[in-house]
Amino acid sequence: MKELTVNLGEYSYSVLIGNGFWKDIPKIVESDFPDSKIFIVTDENVNEIYGNEFESCFSNPCKRIVLRQGEGTKSFKSYEQLCDNLLSFGIKRNDLLVAFGGGVIGDLVGFVSATILRGVKFVQIPTTLLAQTDSSIGGKTGINTKFGKNLVGAFNQPQKVFIDTDFLKTLNNRIFSDGMAEVIKYGCIYSENLFQKLNKLNEVNIFSEINEIIYECCDIKRHVVETDEKEAGLRKILNFGHTFGHVIEKAFEYERYTHGESVAGGMVAISLLGEKYNLTEKGTTARIINLLNKFNLPIKFEKISKQTAEKIIQNDKKATSNSIDFIFINQIGKAFVKPLDISKIINDLDDMNYFS
Ligand code: GLY
Repeated sequence: MKELTVNLGEYSYSVLIGNGFWKDIPKIVESDFPDSKIFIVTDENVNEIYGNEFESCFSNPCKRIVLRQGEGTKSFKSYEQLCDNLLSFGIKRNDLLVAFGGGVIGDLVGFVSATILRGVKFVQIPTTLLAQTDSSIGGKTGINTKFGKNLVGAFNQPQKVFIDTDFLKTLNNRIFSDGMAEVIKYGCIYSENLFQKLNKLNEVNIFSEINEIIYECCDIKRHVVETDEKEAGLRKILNFGHTFGHVIEKAFEYERYTHGESVAGGMVAISLLGEKYNLTEKGTTARIINLLNKFNLPIKFEKISKQTAEKIIQNDKKATSNSIDFIFINQIGKAFVKPLDISKIINDLDDMNYFS
């Protein structure tokens, strides 16, 4: 097992990465938090496969709350229900929430942890590739609103992150590919080596290297978050492909395309624009498309109207009145931030036949 430390002063924490240790996590948690009652929050899919066995590995009784699977659970309604549930079970400030699931569970539980009783500790046990490489680290928590994704939330770092790659064995192919979009993103923005390594793999043989790949992604994220926890500068590069990605997700109300699929589309769109503006080395988009294809990520989407796209970007939490920080790459492995006028970028994409 490998260990990384995210160094954030009094909010520092470790990330344990390995395989075959998930049944040991309860003992570690109980020894780290001996005075806390444990509240496991999970979704119905994870619960069906792992719930009973996981809970049985705790020595002391704990409470398990099972939520519906899917992006719809990152809502005000689920937030309220989860808080009510925890309060009805008598949660106290020294208790511990265990977010056991993918990004939806991690983001929701992290936000509840930031706010219930004005703050209760939480740990992350991410079970999807997307959560293991991105959302469980760095403390971004929150819920979606009718105006868009992650518009209500808090920076709230977990106490510890436990990444067992054995959980990936029970993911279906589409959800594995969903996470690959974030893995490919790290290659695009930060590590040409990682990008090249992924190019030599495919969705079957990647499993022999998955621990190392996840470690590399977590280490990049660690460095970025340590440098810029609250996204004033460097952390923005993690949003590569995410502005148009959110457009795709929101335009179909999070039902048609997964987050990773949408980010794949967003990375292609921004890279094409980068090449058009001479900001991105020619041929970069073709390399990205080639890698996305290898991991079964879509590059063509049902068309969205120009007006819908513009409205969704205007509501993006990163937008100022007319502009937004877009993340471009000069070449694979090197990203930079450039604020651009939203209408201009929408018009240019329209010229490239992007909208209906
Ligand atoms: N997922 C982007 C970030 O954590 O900043």
